[in-house]
Amino acid sequence: MTSVAIVTGASSGIGAATARRLAAEGFHVLAAARRTDRLAGLVKEIEAAGGTATAVACDVTSDESVAGLAAAAQAAPGPVTLLVNNAGGARGLDPVESGAIGDWQWMYDVNVLGTLRVTQALLPALEASGAGTIVIVSSTAGFTVYEGGGGYTAAKHAQTAIAGTLRLELCGRPIRVIEIDPGMVRTDEFGLVRFDGDADKAAATYAGVPEPLVAEDVADCIAWCATRPHHVNVDRLVVRPLAQAAQHKVHRVGQ
Ligand SMILES: NC(=O)c1ccc[n+]([C@@H]2O[C@H](COP(=O)([O-])OP(=O)(O)OC[C@H]3O[C@@H](n4cnc5c(N)ncnc54)[C@H](OP(=O)(O)O)[C@@H]3O)[C@@H](O)[C@H]2O)c1
Repeated sequence: MTSVAIVTGASSGIGAATARRLAAEGFHVLAAARRTDRLAGLVKEIEAAGGTATAVACDVTSDESVAGLAAAAQAAPGPVTLLVNNAGGARGLDPVESGAIGDWQWMYDVNVLGTLRVTQALLPALEASGAGTIVIVSSTAGFTVYEGGGGYTAAKHAQTAIAGTLRLELCGRPIRVIEIDPGMVRTDEFGLVRFDGDADKAAATYAGVPEPLVAEDVADCIAWCATRPHHVNVDRLVVRPLAQAAQHKVHRVGQ
């Protein structure tokens, strides 16, 4: 029977690439996000490539919406073996001194409480499969702080704490917990969301960086971890572009 993978934040960037990749690996993918028009396009793309997927409208900040995702999982055509908690992002690059409470609230709601809410809702199905996997897409910001990143790093540290705690609490049950920590990934929307639609500021993040990671690189890491034999638990995978030795140490050409 086909295994089912759920990917949150599948309407763009890393989530969309992960949905495509997992479908190519043979999963039936439940692609979840708020923008259903984009999900419909993604499902068509996956089907054209020979895979199968279902679009599920889901706002990870809403109990009711996430209950709908759990219901869709129950109706899916196979056991739910994989959940990829990917929905998230950054807002603002302000110092703690002047950071907007609303930006911090948004980052906490989507990255942290969204991961918590979706994980709680899907745990019974993952356990019932007998071989469940939970992936949490945190970030290198989950273990390093940087100036202007207070709100985002706080949220990603919290996601990292969820991953570690959950792995301890689920020990002895058939669910592994994998944390993926990407460094700089050039996706279409991450910077636009962070800088409130300012394309110049978003582009400046990657200026001169020879080859930042792209969404498919992270999808490749997620797929590799998720397709190891089930007794192999990659606790945490840190992945950065070659040009980024550390958060503060980025090689930029011509800068
Ligand atoms: N890009 C990077 O450099 C980078 C580095 C490390 C970690 N990450 C992490 O990787 C993940 C994906 O990032 P990305 O670069 O692919 O960003 P992105 O292109 O902006 O994708 C974010 C996704 O999250 C979804 N989302 C936002 N709010 C949501 C909500 N309330 N409910 C459901 N879905 C929601 C968006 O879909 P809708 O708007 O359609 O709902 C979108 O599909 C994030 O957790 C991010 O923090 C990114």
